[in-house]
Amino acid sequence: MTTSLTPSVNQAMQTTETCNNDLKQGPWFLDLPGMPGTYGPGASQDDSAPSHTPKQQVLPKDYQQASDEELHARIRAAKKTLGDRVVILGHFYQRDEVIQHADFVGDSFQLARAAKTRPEAEAIVFCGVHFMAETADLLSTDQQAVILPNLAAGCSMADMADLDSVEECWEQLTDLYGPYGDETIIPVTYMNSSAALKGFVGRHGGIVCTSSNARAVLEWAFERGQRVLFFPDQHLGRNTAKAMGISLDQMPLWNPNKPLGGNTEEDLHNAKVLLWHGFCSVHKRFTVAQIDKARADYPGVQVIVHPESPMAVVDAADSSGSTDFIVKAIDAAPAGTTFAIGTEINLVQRLAAQHPEHTIFCLDPVICPCSTMYRIHPGYLAWVLEELVSGNTINQITVSEDVAEPARIALERMLSVVPPAESTK
Ligand code: 13P
Ligand code: SF4
Repeated sequence: MTTSLTPSVNQAMQTTETCNNDLKQGPWFLDLPGMPGTYGPGASQDDSAPSHTPKQQVLPKDYQQASDEELHARIRAAKKTLGDRVVILGHFYQRDEVIQHADFVGDSFQLARAAKTRPEAEAIVFCGVHFMAETADLLSTDQQAVILPNLAAGCSMADMADLDSVEECWEQLTDLYGPYGDETIIPVTYMNSSAALKGFVGRHGGIVCTSSNARAVLEWAFERGQRVLFFPDQHLGRNTAKAMGISLDQMPLWNPNKPLGGNTEEDLHNAKVLLWHGFCSVHKRFTVAQIDKARADYPGVQVIVHPESPMAVVDAADSSGSTDFIVKAIDAAPAGTTFAIGTEINLVQRLAAQHPEHTIFCLDPVICPCSTMYRIHPGYLAWVLEELVSGNTINQITVSEDVAEPARIALERMLSVVPPAESTK
């Protein structure tokens, strides 16, 4: 994959409408002491961040003031000095200014696998979000340090399910379903969740899924129980279960702020998949009206959306799938195809630049990146790399062993169901 000539979202924002003009500033202005703990400008700007959301210390001025060219030169120099001692992983949703320095580019699970392929690297710099760095820590060796360049790069969806609320829900469900609760309901957590929740499902006979293997994972769960508790993303759960033929009235929503999640006992006895009340604010922006407009403007357009999009959007699209599915569908299409894509803008824009033989655009006409992916900027990358050169490991993400052990079991169960595809680049 070549990325060096692609026009970045940072550049496109100079001429296209954005959901927040603060996106044009460096993300470090959000790290100032006294600034409220929010996710920052972008799709999650109106979501309320929990009080324990990690804060990033203010980036040293030197990095804030450096020009793009200087930062790129410093990153390249630090990488050269560190050699095989460091590996940089970049999620598809990262800005191009970061992706150009990544050794591997891929989806969240491909990148976790990539971390395993470099046991000689002392440091894995994860240009992605917090749950991805935790997963890399779970799957890498004890000798390796996983570094998240900006600690405030969390995920608003992952934060919508916390261990206390899920434990409380589990208690209510096992009371309701009887003493064999663990045998009748299988907890399934989306990769986009904390290590603590992966540990929870590991302890309760459950499993992790990603957007590329959710159906196979649900089939695994239904071989072991009559019901599934799926968290945190209601949309991925609903879209997957619906495609498996489960009716909507058998998929009640669990609101953690209400007794029995806001359901009657009868609803819950009838349930096959209980959906946690979580969502991704990036994918929530896509609408059926946007799809109708794309079809009117571009007859024959292929509409592909990510399954974190609402059900009506997935139903109105031609196909839906994980980020890797979208990349591969575009790669495989005959030249001259027009695509309207419903996923994060950095990936869509990069695909458009890499495929001049197609017409590719984002369903959402307003530039509104994932707020937290956006918190990683070359300034932070240069900072953590130069600290490594000086012998300092900063911004390390570590999962404690009591959580790691059951979380690995849940991840290994997923791997035994569907081994993930290799990463790209
Ligand atoms: P992937 O698992 O496809 O990398 O997606 C991660 C994500 O955050 C989607 O919103
Ligand atoms: Fe989380 Fe959505 Fe951003 Fe993915 S795109 S990291 S699910 S907020």
